[in-house]
Amino acid sequence: MKLKTHRWPLAGLIATTLVAWPSFQIVPANEASKPFEVRQGTVWLDTSGRPINAHGGGVLFHQGVYYWYGENKEGRSWMPKCNKSWDGYRVDVTGIRCYSSRDLINWKDEGLVLKADLNDPESDLSPSKVCERPKVVFNPRTQKFVMWMHIDSQDYKSARAGVAVANHPTGPFTYRGSVRPEGQDSRDQTLFQDDDGNAYRIYASETNKTTYISLLTDDYLSHSGKYVRVFVNQPMEAQAMFKHAGRYWLVGSHVTGWDPNAVRSAVADSIWGPWTELGNPCLGSGAGKTFGGQSTFVLPVAGKPDLLIFMADRWNKTKLPDSRYIWLPIQFTDKRFVIPWQDSWRLPIDNELTEQANSLSPSYTPPMKKGL
Ligand code: DGJ
Repeated sequence: MKLKTHRWPLAGLIATTLVAWPSFQIVPANEASKPFEVRQGTVWLDTSGRPINAHGGGVLFHQGVYYWYGENKEGRSWMPKCNKSWDGYRVDVTGIRCYSSRDLINWKDEGLVLKADLNDPESDLSPSKVCERPKVVFNPRTQKFVMWMHIDSQDYKSARAGVAVANHPTGPFTYRGSVRPEGQDSRDQTLFQDDDGNAYRIYASETNKTTYISLLTDDYLSHSGKYVRVFVNQPMEAQAMFKHAGRYWLVGSHVTGWDPNAVRSAVADSIWGPWTELGNPCLGSGAGKTFGGQSTFVLPVAGKPDLLIFMADRWNKTKLPDSRYIWLPIQFTDKRFVIPWQDSWRLPIDNELTEQANSLSPSYTPPMKKGL
């Protein structure tokens, strides 16, 4: 997120003035020097000066490059009658956008890597449907990039998991269809790829009341049938999983539509559990409502084992394309972690880190487990 405020000063001013919750942009301390500062109050811009449009997203690190995938939200925000009881605003589906960056600072727009299907009203990707929370992993065995996403009908009753595949991180992704995994509904979702090459889908099921963790098949294109129900009857959305110091960590939100609530978190020694709830890790002003946001992903920074960035969306439900992003570093304590609010923080991303990232990536070939 390069300093671009001078290109669009009015937008920055309006953003700073209008938003109730502070948002920020990453800007360098001065034009020539690094590190970069994460600062409130402006819209994040890509390298061409346009606001970054990648909501409910996640980041893939592949061969020295970070790829940020998210929902492209554009057009009018409106509320279908069927969603009135819960303020269910929507924008029509346009597709999934991708940005690339080597330094987490400068994000290049790679365009829509999965596009809405404008021809078939029955298609999962029809503009009239819902396509949310895309996540992408690279399968070293098949050399394919696999994207899973939440597919739904306008009233969110269809509740399916869609999958798409690409040969390149910047697509184009080919849509393969959707399923109701384990015979159940599936809404908010994320992916987690373990060090052993196994990949998992973590999703809100049983009408958002229970979280499922399903092992994917070796090609990552299906659910293997091995799964666990966790946090049974404890409603959760916006799940994100990460690994640190050999343990599995989970963050998520409560279920309040587009409105913010407190972060939920948990830890386990095995992905299959038992999971121990840790409560709300956020600290500081706005901590009870995730600083106005909702979790979407935890980004491990390459070459910095202790730098993991909590990514959240600050939804603007009546003007969804103007939803913003919150990125905060996670801090680990003895047995838990915290996410302290910071008005501004400096990304220790520098040339050295970029070089480390480049040298790390080619050697990352997780061994694949066989015989599921
Ligand atoms: C909360 C979910 O986390 C979002 O992805 C989206 O589905 C909204 N609900 C819709 O209200």
